[in-house]
This record gives sequence, structure tokens and C-alpha cells, in this order.
Amino acid sequence: MRKKIVAGNWKMNKTLQEGVALAKDLNAALTADKPVCDVVICTPFIHLSSVNNEIDKSIIGLGAENCADKVSGAYTGEVSAAMVKSTGADYVILGHSERRAYYGETAAILKEKVNLALANDLKVIFCIGEVLEEREAGKQNEVVKEQLEGSLFELSAEQLSNVVLAYEPVWAIGTGKTATSEQAEDMHAFIRGVIAEKFGAAVAEETSILYGGSCKPSNAKELFSKPNVDGGLIGGAALEVADFKGIIDAWKN
Ligand code: PGA
Repeated sequence: MRKKIVAGNWKMNKTLQEGVALAKDLNAALTADKPVCDVVICTPFIHLSSVNNEIDKSIIGLGAENCADKVSGAYTGEVSAAMVKSTGADYVILGHSERRAYYGETAAILKEKVNLALANDLKVIFCIGEVLEEREAGKQNEVVKEQLEGSLFELSAEQLSNVVLAYEPVWAIGTGKTATSEQAEDMHAFIRGVIAEKFGAAVAEETSILYGGSCKPSNAKELFSKPNVDGGLIGGAALEVADFKGIIDAWKN
């Protein structure tokens, strides 16, 4: 059975002290009322090691939001996959639309990052999704397929088992405009089909596909009720314990 996952993406929010406090509060809330899904928080690099000391890793997984496309050396300001791993993190988000749009991350660069993350025993949360104009032109399936092909199609099936996919329609991120559960289900089923075609049906069945984009406690249950939606990648609503827990609890009856 593929995993149900709710992952938070803190983006560029919270000072170190605020981030540690948030992690502590979340840990207390989830220790008192255990989740029935996997929970992951992805934080800025500088928070990782401190947050790692505050959470029960059997309840909350830890991840970074990015890593370098190079192994090590003279790349001022970059953080390698090995460095991320050394903080205690087990996950890394790669291919987020904000990285693609604002920092010029191409499919080829992302392929390097994915390879390095996996080589360093990190699980990858790989984001894909179309912009509004692409959806309006009916090109969303084509765009998402290209994103998968460009960065993941040279992986082995075994490597792909350490990749979680996150479908995040760019028009829904931080806009308050959520995809309908039907739109999410259609795309997730399409993505699973693309994975099945390339890696086989058994691998596709085991691949968790998360939805991201204005997911909140009020719409999470409906989104997660769809057969191909295996959880969420949560931005804004991951910054408050009550909201994030509300989404985690959407997996409960
Ligand atoms: P949002 O962000 O939940 O604030 O829309 C989701 C994401 O970008 O991962």
C-alpha cells in the first residue's frame, strides 16, 4: 500500500527561533494525538539541525526545500545533498515551481539534483505542475509529462521508490484558488498512468502522489477522498499548528 503523506513546505518563513518553536508545538500536538498518515516538515536549511533535535522522528519526518546540483566545492552559497543529510533530514523538495520560475531550475538541473539527493539517501518530493496559461490552453497533461520525463525517466524503478510526486498547479499555489478534487484526481490518475507506462504498473501503484496548492483544513478531506490523491504538500497552512494538524487529521474518519 502506498503511503499517505502530509508534508509542510515552510518556504522562506520563520526565523530560527520561530521555526524551532513551531516544530516543538507541532511535535507536542502530534505526540498527544497521533497521525494516521506520514507527516514531514520541510524547512529552510538553517533550521534543519535545530528542528531535528525537537521532533520525534517516528512521528515527523524532516526535509529541506532544495539542494545543490553539485557534489561539493567552490559553489558559494550552495548546500549539498550530503550536507542536508548530515543534519538528520531524510527528505528534500525538488522542482518546486518557485525554484523553476525564480531561480531558473531546468529539467536538466533538476535531474542532477534528484540524482545527488537519492545518492545521499534522501527521499525526494518532486514537484510538477502547469501554469494558468498552460491549463487554459489544455496543455496541462503534456507539461506535466515533460517535467517527469525531463528529470526522472533515467532513474531505475528502485530509485523511483524513493521519490514522492507532488502535483502543484502553479495557479493554485498561495492564491487561495484550489484545484477542484476532480481536477486533482484527473491529473493524479494521468500522472500514475505516465509512471506505469515507463516503470510498470506495480511501481506506479506504490508511488505516492500529493496535491499542493491552497490545501487547507476545509478542503483537505474532499481532496484526500480521491483514489489517486495520497496526501498534500502544504505551504501557507503549514505555518500554524492548528491548520497543519487540521489537514493531517483529514485522514482520520
Ligand atoms: P500553498 O503552497 O499551500 O501556500 O498554496 C503549496 C506549495 O507551494 O507547496
